[in-house]
Amino acid sequence: MAVHAFPEGFLWGAATSAAQIEGAAAEHGRADSIWDVFAREPGRIADGSSPAVACDHYHRWREDLDAMRWLGLSAYRFSIAWPRVLPAGRGVVNEAGLDFYDRLVDALLEAGIRPFATLYHWDLPHALQEAGGWAARGTVDAFVAYAEVMARRLGDRVMHWATHNEPWCIAHLGHETGQQAPGHRDPAEALRVAHHVLLSHGRAVPALRAHTRGEIGIVLNLSPAWPATPRAEDVEAARRFDGTFNRWYLDPLFRGRYPAPAIAERVRRGHLAGGPLPFVEAGDMEAIAVPLDFLGVNYYSRTVLRAGADGEPEAVRVVSERELTDMGWEVYPRGLTDLLVRVARDYRPPRIYITENGAAYADGPDAAGVIADRRRIEYLHGHLLAAREALATGVPLGGWFVWSLLDNFEWAHGYDRRFGLYWVDFATGRRLPKESAFWYRDVVAANAIGDSPQYDAARRLT
Ligand code: FCB
Repeated sequence: MAVHAFPEGFLWGAATSAAQIEGAAAEHGRADSIWDVFAREPGRIADGSSPAVACDHYHRWREDLDAMRWLGLSAYRFSIAWPRVLPAGRGVVNEAGLDFYDRLVDALLEAGIRPFATLYHWDLPHALQEAGGWAARGTVDAFVAYAEVMARRLGDRVMHWATHNEPWCIAHLGHETGQQAPGHRDPAEALRVAHHVLLSHGRAVPALRAHTRGEIGIVLNLSPAWPATPRAEDVEAARRFDGTFNRWYLDPLFRGRYPAPAIAERVRRGHLAGGPLPFVEAGDMEAIAVPLDFLGVNYYSRTVLRAGADGEPEAVRVVSERELTDMGWEVYPRGLTDLLVRVARDYRPPRIYITENGAAYADGPDAAGVIADRRRIEYLHGHLLAAREALATGVPLGGWFVWSLLDNFEWAHGYDRRFGLYWVDFATGRRLPKESAFWYRDVVAANAIGDSPQYDAARRLT
């Protein structure tokens, strides 16, 4: 069997986020985030659950660290809960909250695992939402002050920092479709939010650099856009989706401007008035385009588009049910190669990490406690082959993080979308490695993958 090796020093990681795993929502001075409040509103979370306990990682983090050590991970991507550190969002620091991350970072380093910290993975302190949330320009300053608190405390030890996770989700899902916290439905507000999030990133970078020699970047969710047919109107639909989904974030960060065709489209749809963008002030675009050390790419699937009846781009499914994960997302590894090659060519980030990649499948333990999640192994294997192809063309890819280390609170879906390498019994908190965990452990140890996604279950017993 052919073996595809990865470069020496390639980072093998797993990712999580605070609101999805920590729990301990009211402990040691932590205040509500917008997700705690959102989950209390009837009908917001599909299974009626909340992130109040989640995986109870706040208490069980040592066990989770053991799992990472067992996997042989070289890196762990986690996020810091802003309302644990600054319960009111700004002002008084909660030392107990800082201590939690301090201990986690020290223990990771001791285990030889590099901490990758994300400052904002969607859990805005509720107090800041009361003051207008991301739609208010003042939240930019609050974020920069928070970034500074974290860099002062951890900047000597954390050498990889991401400001934000997925600004598109923050802006669009939180403020345009309302599927995520804070649940607003206002497209004009969503654009303002996107700008403030990007601006807070740009302003936080120099604040971080003042206190750490670590590398600094941002994490985007990107999805290559494919026309459903070669018809001109479908090609145009794909181009338009690419403009509002991918380029609305990539262009400001790497070119210092919003893409003109996407602006025109927003004007046409009535989300913006014509003329200068109302939320952009002098110096903003320069601040946003501050040079970065890396771009984090979260990839799950491609998006296939056609021109809908009203002429607007409409996402369509072109494959059978079998090729979808439990999220309804098509398994399409080649999209990852295309995406990485395109981003490297068009935007030239000095380094790229795949900061999330993974699949939701419900497979749970059989009577013997074995979790045969073959489809997850196939998904991960296929995407690693795709990543390796991108590497071979010269994409500066430095590492890959599985989403996720363990099953967790999947936002508005609640607990029934399982992405973990570890299965979690949410009634007891018990964790069990899935076959994909055994498989990944072998990949990490070999720094290589084989031709096919094989895992020999018999070996598990040895
Ligand atoms: C991404 C999020 C992450 C997780 C995965 C499935 O959009 O960053 O928290 O929910 O999707």
